[in-house]
Amino acid sequence: MAATSMDQLVSLCKRRGFIFQNADIYGGLQGVYDYGPLGIELKNNLKAAWWRSMVYERDDVEGLDAAILTHRKVLQYSGHEATFTDPLCDCKKCKARMRADHIKDGKCPNCGSTDLTEPRPFNLMFKTTVGPIEDGTNYAYLRPETAQAIFTQFKNVVDSTSRKVPFGIAQIGKSFRNEITPRNFVFRVREFEQMELEFFVKPGTDEEWHEKWKEARVKWWEEQGLKPENIHIHKIAKEDLAHYSKATYDIEFQFPHGVEELEGIANRTDYDLGNHTRYQNELGLTAHVHENKDSEAKLAVFDDQEKKWFVPFVIEPSAGVDRGVLAVLTEAYTEETLPNGETRIVLKLKKHLAPVKVAVIPLKRNNPDIMQKAHEIKNMLLKTGIGRVMLEDSGNIGKAYRRHDEIGTPICVTVDFETIEKQPATVTIRDRDTMAQERIAVDELADYLKKQFMA
Ligand code: GAP
Repeated sequence: MAATSMDQLVSLCKRRGFIFQNADIYGGLQGVYDYGPLGIELKNNLKAAWWRSMVYERDDVEGLDAAILTHRKVLQYSGHEATFTDPLCDCKKCKARMRADHIKDGKCPNCGSTDLTEPRPFNLMFKTTVGPIEDGTNYAYLRPETAQAIFTQFKNVVDSTSRKVPFGIAQIGKSFRNEITPRNFVFRVREFEQMELEFFVKPGTDEEWHEKWKEARVKWWEEQGLKPENIHIHKIAKEDLAHYSKATYDIEFQFPHGVEELEGIANRTDYDLGNHTRYQNELGLTAHVHENKDSEAKLAVFDDQEKKWFVPFVIEPSAGVDRGVLAVLTEAYTEETLPNGETRIVLKLKKHLAPVKVAVIPLKRNNPDIMQKAHEIKNMLLKTGIGRVMLEDSGNIGKAYRRHDEIGTPICVTVDFETIEKQPATVTIRDRDTMAQERIAVDELADYLKKQFMA
């Protein structure tokens, strides 16, 4: 089991403003959460780290931000209308509804009764009406994965960027699934965010690329602070693969509730591009999918050497942002006993993920000179581009340190009487993890912190 419990995380997230239950004042909408002032910063930092590694640091990936509302034909030809289901059972005694694969020994997990209905398929996609009249035909879906628009926009991206395979299209955005049993905080929710890359390769090179992406993604999660011993690779058994996948690796993490999927890396073959392509035979293509009478597209590329068109294969690393946030919080949460017997809660987040990078703390908030200097230092540090710098004038210094330890602020800068009275002006900087304090000249502070955060 993980050292951190879910109760510890849920409590910290509410207390300090990371994550709140959605519609809390009305009793909550189940399986839906809102990110508070610090949660949004952490989430944005995780997404920025992913985007940087996927798009900026590579020369073979472009970005996309597509709509959430999805044409029903897209999800019909992608196979989601027919197959994106979970088998569902009802307990006849307590009326609880559950996924068939969550039932152990034929007993209702809620009341223990064995009087359960036969499993029935339940489609996980949310439907909504487009336009003012609800006549049952004019509906669209909220996308269940961000991937599909990458496939339907494949040709536009290729034409506008002149990309040749191998290359990828990256996207971060919301997805929606009407999960039967949302649970474990933000681990399984009905509205969540995904960070997905569709990496298009020549058929025959797909297995090699699948291995490369598996290695790259594990390395990236380690760079976000996950310990190697808490990361596991699980190769999905053939009978459990998603309808589009030839092979899938799950990157699993030791969450507080157990070892579960954090990211899936699937070999989707030419399934999606092939399915969205018009009449394969007529076009002389050989994707392993059915004919599409509704599409206008030929989602293929030309092989200059072999002088023929082909439908690329796709390797898809697909990570959940919310599960990523939960994973980095799980790993970072630490309780330490201090020499005086008090417990110190510290969020030992990697610096680039920390919601607040530096807290500038005026020792006396009713001293105008100290306050002015603290403002000046905050504004100076903001200009360095290291991220959020916060003026922390809410209480006494001890409380301020405790609060910033709990939210993971790597460095506190304290402005005191010496800062305003002595020349050259100096401040105290305090390290979150070691609690070590040192005195540093204000003139050297910006460079010092830039080195800390941008190395
Ligand atoms: N495009 C492929 C795809 O969507 P998936 O394994 O169903 O594959 C990918 O989802 C990732 O999205 C998962 O590894 C997980 O991190 C996240 N995810 C999926 N369903 C989720 C849910 N109900 N709540 C939170 N995250 C979810």
